[in-house]
Amino acid sequence: MTHSDTVVILDFGSQFTQLIARRVREAGVYSEIHPCTTPVDKLRELAPRALILSGGPSSVIEPGAPTLDMGIFDLDLPILGICYGMQLLSHLLPGGRVVSSTDREYGRSEFTVAAASPLFDGLPTDRGLTVWMSHGDRVKSPPEGFSVLGSTPTVDVAAMADPARRIYALQFHPEVAHTEDGSLILHNFLFKIAGLTPGWSMSSFVASQDAALREQIGDRHVVCALSGGVDSTVVAVMLHKAIGKQLHCIFVDNGLLRLNEGEEVAAYLREHFDLNLIHVKAADLFLSLLAGVTDPEEKRKIIGRTFIEVFEREAKKLPGVEFLAQGTLYPDVIESVSFRGPSAVIKSHHNVGGLPDIMKLSLVEPLRELFKDEVRKVAVELGLPDFIIWRHPFPGPGLAIRIIGEVTPKRLDILRRADKIVQAELQASDWYRKVWQGFAVLLPLKTVGVMGDDRTYESVCAVRVVDSIDAMTADWSRVPTEILATISNRIINEVKGINRVVLDISSKPPSTIEWE
Ligand code: XMP
Repeated sequence: MTHSDTVVILDFGSQFTQLIARRVREAGVYSEIHPCTTPVDKLRELAPRALILSGGPSSVIEPGAPTLDMGIFDLDLPILGICYGMQLLSHLLPGGRVVSSTDREYGRSEFTVAAASPLFDGLPTDRGLTVWMSHGDRVKSPPEGFSVLGSTPTVDVAAMADPARRIYALQFHPEVAHTEDGSLILHNFLFKIAGLTPGWSMSSFVASQDAALREQIGDRHVVCALSGGVDSTVVAVMLHKAIGKQLHCIFVDNGLLRLNEGEEVAAYLREHFDLNLIHVKAADLFLSLLAGVTDPEEKRKIIGRTFIEVFEREAKKLPGVEFLAQGTLYPDVIESVSFRGPSAVIKSHHNVGGLPDIMKLSLVEPLRELFKDEVRKVAVELGLPDFIIWRHPFPGPGLAIRIIGEVTPKRLDILRRADKIVQAELQASDWYRKVWQGFAVLLPLKTVGVMGDDRTYESVCAVRVVDSIDAMTADWSRVPTEILATISNRIINEVKGINRVVLDISSKPPSTIEWE
């Protein structure tokens, strides 16, 4: 794919590296994250117009700390170093000095601009700026040619620059939302210092992917596993637009889906696109294999293995298929702590990787550069309806990992009905769109209740609603108590088999989003 202007972000392992990439793209400039070990020759091939050095957890002073190919400084590119990136510039360039400090500074600080610079154009000059810090080391003296641009109460050199070489550096994190005017600082770097032109947008992405897919696939055939979620639906629609009937979608109903999900998506696609869609009804097979199984990993393995078998059996019936399309997203591809090497680590349970080995298919992954919210923007661009665009993520093993203990048709039915109420009540307010994911979990625990004059002894259901950016970390959503009350009342009154509802108030880490 070609983009007019690309920014390369060299990753030193910061938890915020992906945020930098997002901010740059939000500014309309295409960006890619590469490991800090990327050799200068590879960078030359990528032909970026600017470099950003990310933060990272290491200390530049420690032996073996991640560093840079020094040849990078000969590329004559504008560079922005952030946190560890700034310390590294001071450490590597002549005259600079970094000192370590026993206290790590983490959180808010106040930054004062000390010298005018295009990096700070438009920032208020009559007061300090709230910025977000996260560091142990700090720059004691900037390298030759650099001047100090600003400070905080604890850090004298909190920003520095060598304008002649277009190298700028910040001790704080402009990419995080807590930094006031952080986006403006990044904009200044991209447009005023590096002189880039914004050209990246979702419609340019869709157009360039369309061309790339046509070229990659030619007149050959592609098989795509459709799950009903937004990612695989977007992949299917993009491919359908690019290659039409050369696309074959397989939708495996494993009997573990939410109420009517899957069918809704399949019906929508059938109605709106002239798609080759194979709907495999395999609920009985999955449920018979899951009978008596209570161990979470065992459930996951059975479901994963069976999915592959069913999918492969169907895919093999299609003559001449050479490609497998997947909705792999950027967070699946990149591992943030990647300075030790290439970062193509894919979480095994998050995709259908290793699928038809025997079939020797090449992968087609048109979304592998995108974050979830960007996929939603592509879905808007493709004209998909809201019910697909805003669908919450749903795990491959489905409701099986939300039924703690044995998965039986009866327990599936109970959970489905409870889950439907959680979905409906979130959708009735605007909370469905605000949160990352919300769902019900069925516990293997019975408690006593009273219904009318009768004593009941039924199951407990947990409600889990979380906020997240990429599912790597999450916090429980502060859903208004009135909505929670309605969810609870409705579940207890309408779902036979549940007489108590509890709310999960755990963050990730240390808990996970799913219960199994
Ligand atoms: P956890 O439970 O690991 O979940 O905090 C993180 C996100 O991933 C989803 N998830 C899965 N998605 N296959 C998937 O496609 C899976 O096996 C799987 N397990 C968890 C989960 O719903 C959450 O969004």
